Amino acid sequence: MAKKLFIKTHGCQMNEYDSARMQDLLGESHGFEKTDNEEEADLILLNTCSIREKAQEKVFHQLGRWKKLKDKNPNLKIGVGGCVASQEGEKIIKRAPQVDLVFGPQTIHRVPKLYQNIAIEHEENVDITFPKTEKFEHLPEQKNEGPTAFVSIMEGCNKYCSFCVVPHTRGHEVSRPIDDILQEIESLSIMGAKEINLLGQNVNSYRDSKLKTKGLGLSNLIRAASKIYGIERLQFTTSHPFEFGQDLIDVYEDVPELISYVHLPVQSGSNEILKKMRRRHTRDEYFELIDKLKAAREGISISSDFIVGFPGETEKDFLDTLDLVDKVGHDESFSFIYSPRPNTTAKDLEDDVPMEEKKIRLSELQHKLENSAYSISRKMVGQVRKCLVTGISKKNPGEFQARTENNKVVIFSCSDSSKIGKIIDIEIMEAKNKSLRGIAI
Ligand code: SAH
Ligand code: F3S
Repeated sequence: MAKKLFIKTHGCQMNEYDSARMQDLLGESHGFEKTDNEEEADLILLNTCSIREKAQEKVFHQLGRWKKLKDKNPNLKIGVGGCVASQEGEKIIKRAPQVDLVFGPQTIHRVPKLYQNIAIEHEENVDITFPKTEKFEHLPEQKNEGPTAFVSIMEGCNKYCSFCVVPHTRGHEVSRPIDDILQEIESLSIMGAKEINLLGQNVNSYRDSKLKTKGLGLSNLIRAASKIYGIERLQFTTSHPFEFGQDLIDVYEDVPELISYVHLPVQSGSNEILKKMRRRHTRDEYFELIDKLKAAREGISISSDFIVGFPGETEKDFLDTLDLVDKVGHDESFSFIYSPRPNTTAKDLEDDVPMEEKKIRLSELQHKLENSAYSISRKMVGQVRKCLVTGISKKNPGEFQARTENNKVVIFSCSDSSKIGKIIDIEIMEAKNKSLRGIAI
């Protein structure tokens, strides 16, 4: 009987992507089959996140629960990967001896070997190194079914924003060669993908690693990907306002496959705080960029991440953030209370904002962001929009789910499952909190 693999993923889309690759990899190397039931697993992998302290705490709670499974089934093996693994390395096994192997985001391709090593005494069972592009060269072809797919185009980040653990856990920027990426998109298209999301921590630093081109990296890639037969939509996650050049703005004008949506985290609306965060741009530079994007693509939705309660954030700084949201009119966004992280420079700054105040600011900002996103949705009611049918509705299996060209989810009734993967016209009938309701035309 085939061995069963259960993977639990915390955190970002990069982790989701890596987890799917690990499933493919262990299927190929050891014949592992996927299971959604941890009780029947022979190997459990936890792909962790350390972006905020809360995410990291979840890891040891989870490992504690799995210890009981291992007590019942001594043959069960447990592995820990992702950013907490990268940060803590062997300390994970010291603290949780039920763990058999530890690997980082850049060594997922070595998991089959590490798994083999468990049986052999004194063989390596921890590998959290950062071996350049090796990872991508050793991953099997992505098996994706369905109309949407993720393609990782680069790893790591060199920006060292003062609050962020990513450069420390995922390592420095390494881009994949453009030919490899285009080939992967082509094969995904043959498998039925219509929309590709180009993934990386900081995709506008993408450089074709073979050509070593400075500049024009991501925009070139988008232009080339848009010409691949069958690819009807493209998007990218995540970009940084710094290094968002004119070439990238121009693709919004020239490449209709690029959707009318950009996730462009700004974190704060205060120049003082932006400087302390080492974000390398001012509030006005962000506004300039947004104006250019709005001019290049009518109706583009701007999404962002925000951090409140950064050390030294005054009431005035926070009001600047609220004001920035008013001026930009963000679509659905993410906001967090600042969490000090290991190895970052911000962790040594004096944090003088009381937690109670941080919570009040977060809830005020979230309220504003929800209203802002909802007002975009409301304006869409009565319009007919081009939507990519992505599948069956998660909440109500009797209905279908689609996405508008500005990336809003639309739920609609339909009896024809052959519509999945097609771009169809949907009249928007109602704006709900997180989605729209529509009727297929
Ligand atoms: N470029 C990355 C950003 C990674 S983290 C990306 O792929 O999105 C995602 C978001 O988490 C950041 O934009 C930031 O808003 C938030 N974040 C990062 N470090 C944080 C910290 N120390 N405390 C609170 N929020 C943080
Ligand atoms: Fe983190 Fe800043 Fe890079 S938020 S991922 S260091 S761009």
